[in-house]
Amino acid sequence: MDAREMKIKAAEAALAHVEYGMRLGIGTGSTAEEFVRLLAEKVATGFKVEGVPTSERTARLCLELGVPLKSLDELPELDLTIDGADEVDSDLTLIKGGGGALLREKIVAAASQRMIVIADESKLVATLGAFALPIEINPFGLVSTRMAIEKKASKLGLGGTLTLRQGGGEDFMTDGGHYIIDASFGRIPDAEALSNELNSIPGVVEHGLFLKMAALAIIAGPAGARTLR
Ligand code: 5RP
Repeated sequence: MDAREMKIKAAEAALAHVEYGMRLGIGTGSTAEEFVRLLAEKVATGFKVEGVPTSERTARLCLELGVPLKSLDELPELDLTIDGADEVDSDLTLIKGGGGALLREKIVAAASQRMIVIADESKLVATLGAFALPIEINPFGLVSTRMAIEKKASKLGLGGTLTLRQGGGEDFMTDGGHYIIDASFGRIPDAEALSNELNSIPGVVEHGLFLKMAALAIIAGPAGARTLR
């Protein structure tokens, strides 16, 4: 089974949690897109759902495939969000934001009664941090925000390189008009402490650590999908 097949397996298992009439948060990334494709097939048979997309990219795919969409202001309370992740640990703490949608993903997940993470098994880690942590920052004061991130991280004994994300030959811009710094800490032993430190920096809009947000993770490997709670 290749990586795409594993993503489809995880997405199929997540689809089983979607009930008729649900208000759904719809994630971003290649795994979430497999979920959108399967959901669209179900919608085409008359299954009713309303989705709130976590990015313009996801919105475009949903519209193309006929998944009905609403804005989060129209549906401020959601039943379920299905989204991918860049890393998942055994406590279901996540690193997200590889696709640059972490702010909307976190807002949508927080507005949902439940979040289910779907991933192939390469995303399951013992300790978070091998994947560089995406930190969404306001473009104003980039240099001071970056220095503040370095200082706060070093207080926790974390070093590593902070890279301003690029895309299409220029500074990557999120759907919200912000930059992303990818912080390669290597290992994040205390995600909560790091989250608190990052949240205390005014120029940090949001970061990709998702703590206590996922109710379950569906992890697919060659033998099929399993659920972590
Ligand atoms: C986007 C995300 C994605 O969920 C994450 O990057 C995983 O993507 P993929 O399923 O393509 O590996 O957080 O901001």
